[in-house]
Amino acid sequence: MRKTLAALTTCLVMTLSLVLGWSVAPAVAIDTYVSRYLQAREPVEIEMDSQGTLQEFTPERLSAGKKLFELHCLNCHVGGATLPDPTISLSLEDLHGATPPRDNVGSLMAFLREPMTYDGTDVTYWCRQVPETWMSQAELEELAAFVLRAAQKAPGWGTNQFD
Ligand code: HEC
Repeated sequence: MRKTLAALTTCLVMTLSLVLGWSVAPAVAIDTYVSRYLQAREPVEIEMDSQGTLQEFTPERLSAGKKLFELHCLNCHVGGATLPDPTISLSLEDLHGATPPRDNVGSLMAFLREPMTYDGTDVTYWCRQVPETWMSQAELEELAAFVLRAAQKAPGWGTNQFD
């Protein structure tokens, strides 16, 4: 009887510490889409500029970027496509073909702060502008890093094939 009680107490204490431990864990969890399709279980290196300067992004930051994308961009860009204008998708090929190319985090951020037409000659009002009063540089960096990594890794991203 005493043994059972002791075992029960240990069990209780362990459960309690687990529950308490969870409650102080970081708020941002790693999205399975990020670990699986963006192949980011560990920090991954992503291009920041046209010179190819690399910066590490943790799976947590990419997951935060995904959340921002789902909240604010998904309506028009489901699966990396561009519903109002399918010729300008978020595929790596289309990002690369823009003037200037939008295939690094820095140029993607510049685009989102002030969206330009595909040929870079004029501002466009079709996409959603993201001012600093809405998203900080750090948040926008996470959003842009998510978009770029998805364009590089996610199967079917921007190709209109949602399967
Ligand atoms: C109301 C619909 C809409 C929303 C919301 C929207 N976009 Fe767009 N986006 C567009 C359209 C349309 C274009 C093409 C604009 C053009 O070239 O004139 C575009 C273009 C882009 C491009 C350039 C693609 C390329 O190949 O050059 C990027 C990058 C982009 N959007 C990212 C985003 C992100 C990130 C968000 C969320 C903050 C977002 N968009 C929200 C409609 C939208």
